[in-house]
Amino acid sequence: MKHVYIEHLQDHIGETVTIKGWVFHRRSSGKLKFIEVRDGTGIVQCVIFKGNVPEEQFQSADNVSLESSVIIEGSVREDKRAPGGCEIDVQTFHVHHHAEDYPITPKEHGEDFLLDRRHLWIRSKRQNAILRVRHTIVKAIRDFFDERGFVLFDAPILTPNAVEGTSTLFETSYFDLGSAYLTQSGQLYGEAGALALGKIYVFGPTFRAEKSKTRRHLTEFWMVEPEMAWYDLNDDMDLAEEFIEYVVQTTLDKRSGELEVLERDLSKLECIQRPFPRISYDEAVAILHKHGKEFDYGNDFGAPDETLISGQFDRPVIVHRYPAEVKAFYMKRDPEDETKALAMDMLAPEGYGEIIGGSQREDDYDTLVRRIREHNLPQDVFEWYLDLRRYGSVPHSGFGLGLERTVAWICKLDHIRETIPFPRTIKRKNP
Ligand code: 4AD
Ligand code: MG
Repeated sequence: MKHVYIEHLQDHIGETVTIKGWVFHRRSSGKLKFIEVRDGTGIVQCVIFKGNVPEEQFQSADNVSLESSVIIEGSVREDKRAPGGCEIDVQTFHVHHHAEDYPITPKEHGEDFLLDRRHLWIRSKRQNAILRVRHTIVKAIRDFFDERGFVLFDAPILTPNAVEGTSTLFETSYFDLGSAYLTQSGQLYGEAGALALGKIYVFGPTFRAEKSKTRRHLTEFWMVEPEMAWYDLNDDMDLAEEFIEYVVQTTLDKRSGELEVLERDLSKLECIQRPFPRISYDEAVAILHKHGKEFDYGNDFGAPDETLISGQFDRPVIVHRYPAEVKAFYMKRDPEDETKALAMDMLAPEGYGEIIGGSQREDDYDTLVRRIREHNLPQDVFEWYLDLRRYGSVPHSGFGLGLERTVAWICKLDHIRETIPFPRTIKRKNP
């Protein structure tokens, strides 16, 4: 008999098929048993009528425990009221493995209880929907760059130096060569890639020993980082805007069912269309002051500041030209105001804060050497990076999008830890 995945049952109405999955829910009424089976692609109700199956199979359907694995043969019957539009009239019911008492029940569980059982929790409807949305976002990200002539460029995970400040480095000992650090960002390598290949994107895991225990921070997260030769800050912002529109609209298109499971208000995503508002750091500070928020000019924005600023808009807002002091050493200064960096952050609506950080890069050799010294960074490990300014330097720009923050925003989740199969935070490295 043909094994059919639940998501494809609609194409087999009237046929007899085999489904393989796990018992999700069951109830019975006399001669009828109703077993909801999930197989990862969907959930379908299987109806077992006492006269239609051998007696011992009817009994085993009575005793089967939640999350037991089962193989079921039956005919597919259209039922408009059923979740997937059809039901299965069972002809044979086989329990492949009897599950022990399943620890996750419909009653409320604490976050820690569920996170300790993350390997099982991902079987639930909501978590399943989130992971499918994540998959589609990743695919949309790749398609966007692949369709526009970008080359995938893999940066190393073990690196000899910091990129985004030394306070969040994970250090490990590296044979006779001293310390190595888990990468905080593939950007510096991406710059080498852009000067070799024109337009590239790095897409991989990145690591930050974040001491902060917020709903926006993981210690291990995925970042996609396009880097483009000959792009200035404006080109960079244009690309970021087109990119986010594409990712959100593609996800809406492909995953409306999952977003419905998550009870997402789709109208809040439908309006994510270009152009996005763009404001300078100075204008952003004016918004804070206008709303009576205490904020010292020159500081970086905290999460509450970002929420207030982005709350003024119904789509992501780009904030550009930050004080150079609060930004990284590699950012080019604004020739019209040397105190400002040609930096940009994109803040997501609905309080999700910064999803993108990017900039035009310093492309002048002498200036970059000065910045490395000002930041007390060891020049010797950056010699290769300085070569990019020795041999055919060009203006270039790029940005990094945090995948998990994007998933959290699109799914409207309370906490970033549900966006990744096995989250790593300051308080958790298991399972
Ligand atoms: O703003 P960040 O630190 O920028 C960079 O790393 C640049 N080198 C990127 C580039 O220009 N190529 O980080 C970029 C994004 C943030 O906007 C945020 O979305 C995400 O990465 N991010 C985190 N996500 C989850 N947990 C953390 N601890 C994160 N830190 C940054
Ligand atoms: Mg940033």
